[in-house]
Order: sequence, then C-alpha cells, then structure tokens
Amino acid sequence: MKKYIMILFILTFCAGIAYAAHEKAITDPYREILKHMPKAAAGDLRYHITIHKPYQNWAMWPGKGKLYKGKEPHGSLLTTYVNEIALDSINKAQGMIDRAMIIKENYDANKKLMAVTVMYKVKGYNPEGGDWFWAKYDPKMEIQAEGKVKDCMDCHGTVKDNDYIFTGKVAGK
Ligand code: HEC
Repeated sequence: MKKYIMILFILTFCAGIAYAAHEKAITDPYREILKHMPKAAAGDLRYHITIHKPYQNWAMWPGKGKLYKGKEPHGSLLTTYVNEIALDSINKAQGMIDRAMIIKENYDANKKLMAVTVMYKVKGYNPEGGDWFWAKYDPKMEIQAEGKVKDCMDCHGTVKDNDYIFTGKVAGK
C-alpha cells in the first residue's frame, strides 16, 4: 500500500512540474523570439539584421517615417527601425525590454547613407550602462565600432532616465 501512495505522490509531483513549465512557456510572449537572438557581438548582430531578419522589413519607430530630420552627430536624415520587442517596449513605456533592438540609418542631406547605428539591449551585458550593446557599421555594413562604446554611452547617457533613448519616450509609465 505504502508503495502506491509513494507512486501516486511522485506522479502528482511530476504533473505539477510539467504544468508549471507549460504555463511559463505560454505566458512568455518572447520565447520564440529569444531563441533566435544574436549575442552581443557586431558580427553576429549583422547576420541577424541582414540575413536572418532583414531589418528593412521591420516596423519603423512609431510616428517616424523614412528619412526624417535628425540632429548631429547622426546625420541630417534618419530612418529608424525597431524589432518587435522594442516596439512593444515603446508602447508600454516602461523602459526597453531584454533583446529590444533599434537600428538607425544615418543619411546626409543628399540622402546618401553614411552609417548604420544600432542599440541592442542584452540583460546583464552592461548593467552600469543600461545593458546596451552599441554598434556602428559603414554603408557596406563593415563594423566601425561595437560594444560598450564610450562616445555613444557618454552622449546617450544624458537621457539615462529614458533608458538612453532620444527619439521618443520609452520609460516613466
Ligand atoms: C553627441 C551625441 C550622440 C552620440 C555621440 C551618439 N548619439 Fe545616437 N543619438 C543621438 C541623438 C540626439 C539621437 C536622436 C536622433 C536624432 O534626432 O538625431 C540619437 C539616436 C540614436 C539611436 C536611435 C534610438 C535613440 O536613442 O533615439 C540609435 C540606435 C543611436 N543613436 C545609436 C548610437 C550609437 C551606436 C552611437 C555610437 C557609435 C551613438 N548613437 C552616438 C545622439 C548621440
């Protein structure tokens, strides 16, 4: 008899664990996306945004169209794309969620592409700097800067309260 109670107990326990795991899986909306995100490295990131999920098919920053007017140092005209997680974060306005990615094309006044700059949120990557991974590519997507880039961090640090983002309000709700 004791044996049956023991078996029953074990079965109930296992079923409980399986149920909890299942619940977690369906409540994590980013599960599928997270499986395919690049690591914090400009080479990996480039593969992700050009071949795996070409960024030009992504949504643009809400309310911003193609070639809107920008400020120094990024260029006269800008086009800014966001991945699904970033878009979701912008709508929630509670700061950018892990694996949010923002890609900005920087053009001169004659609509010539000068550079592509990226901010990629990777939880645990750089807690003192909002966990942002920074990358800059030239128009041919050659890497020009990557990582905890001081220039980017210093200037974007002036809007730390908005999760280092200039283009629109993403924090404070
Ligand atoms: C001197 C200040 C300054 C520096 C340096 C700078 N940025 Fe920016 N960045 C801005 C401003 C201002 C904007 C808002 C867009 C605009 O109006 O030009 C911006 C926008 C962005 C955006 C769109 C998201 C946002 O914050 O609004 C990305 C991505 C970005 N910058 C990446 C970079 C990267 C990568 C570097 C370093 C290679 C960098 N930036 C260096 C000032 C700066």
